[in-house]
Amino acid sequence: MSVLAPETTDLADLLDPELYATGDPYPTWRWMRDNDPVRRHEATAYPAFWSVTRYDDIRTVYNDARVFSSAEGILLRPLAHGEDPGGGRTLALTDPPRHKALRSLVADWFTTRSVRALEDAMRGAVRQVVARATALGECDFVTDVAARLPLYVICRLMGVPEHEQEMLFTLTSKAFGAGDPEVRSIAHQEIMAYFVELMYRRMDRPEDDLVSALVNGEVDGELLSEEDILLNCDNLLVGGTENVRLAVSGGMATFLDHPADWERLRADRGLMPTAVEEVLRWTSSATHIMRTVTEPVTLHGRLLEAGDRVVLWTPSANRDERHFTGPDVFDITRRPNRHMALGAGEHFCLGAMMTRTEMRILFGELLDSVGRIERTGPAVPLRSIVVNGLESLPVRMTAR
Ligand code: HEM
Repeated sequence: MSVLAPETTDLADLLDPELYATGDPYPTWRWMRDNDPVRRHEATAYPAFWSVTRYDDIRTVYNDARVFSSAEGILLRPLAHGEDPGGGRTLALTDPPRHKALRSLVADWFTTRSVRALEDAMRGAVRQVVARATALGECDFVTDVAARLPLYVICRLMGVPEHEQEMLFTLTSKAFGAGDPEVRSIAHQEIMAYFVELMYRRMDRPEDDLVSALVNGEVDGELLSEEDILLNCDNLLVGGTENVRLAVSGGMATFLDHPADWERLRADRGLMPTAVEEVLRWTSSATHIMRTVTEPVTLHGRLLEAGDRVVLWTPSANRDERHFTGPDVFDITRRPNRHMALGAGEHFCLGAMMTRTEMRILFGELLDSVGRIERTGPAVPLRSIVVNGLESLPVRMTAR
């Protein structure tokens, strides 16, 4: 990896989506970690913000939800887009104590026991997905494999009936894929319309699912408003699908570049837990997470004022040489591996256990049933400052 000369003019623009598609942000993050770990960026189309790039500083911010608030949004938004509509309303965008109350409404579905209870169903779903993709011969690993399990799981949790899942899969592929912004926006509206209908169904007849929990649960003695229920459904759908798809497909692409590691995992399944953690660290699909400062605070010697935006660059934390030995090496035996791909502190990813289980089951089934996976064309990277990874990964999968 190249190390930039310390002329700040050489630094890449971290807010340019093209950087994540065709460039390499890592030298810039590395320079910032070494020379300006809490760096000020003046307003452009985006508000002014501070970039935080070192592992320890990012953990400090994550661990203080009172001073570093989520209620004004956790992603940098262009000024023209105004405030985040989910601010103060969705699980990810609330501060304690409301955050705790909201999280406890849905937490039961994400415990170790709940995830374990779903494992057999996940295995069955994965077997079908892999068999179908193998039968296709050539396929897009992102859409035909990586996207399917997380959507199936979140649909089960939310109580989406099986016969409606394929329709929701088509809509989410359109809404969160690349493509025409208008088509994406229409698909997103259709998803919201679907959730309105599901919400009313559960108001009439609650079942044992997440949507019913949101419909009937109270925070501070009050039921959630319909809009709050819908915003939370939308967040769970996006949170539950997008990052898993990116971690799994990014992981597969990495294994295709490191075939010896894939074969080593095939030969020794005991390595699966550390391999999954390393894929999470390596892919770090959530490119940034934002906080807003609530009172003056000093971070790594810089004075931040109330109202300042603080942007945490997750992939940078996960390659910080102060924390990881050989951070630029993909090592499926890495231990310890306290990466922050799933965040940390109060808002630590609710779906962490679910994610690890999904990845373990999916990689396991691929190793069991597929003898050979080979690229059939160039992978297409996403253009985004929010999440990074692959939009498509054309492969041929041959059954064992
Ligand atoms: C590779 C997969 C995943 C990655 C990389 C990821 C990443 C993250 C990160 C970085 C956060 C912290 C956000 C913050 O601090 O502001 C987070 C929170 C969250 N994630 Fe995940 N996530 C993944 C999978 C999932 C899944 C499968 C689900 C649901 C089924 C999920 C649901 C959530 C929710 C609800 C929160 C908000 C928690 C809170 O604010 O208390 N995530 N995730």
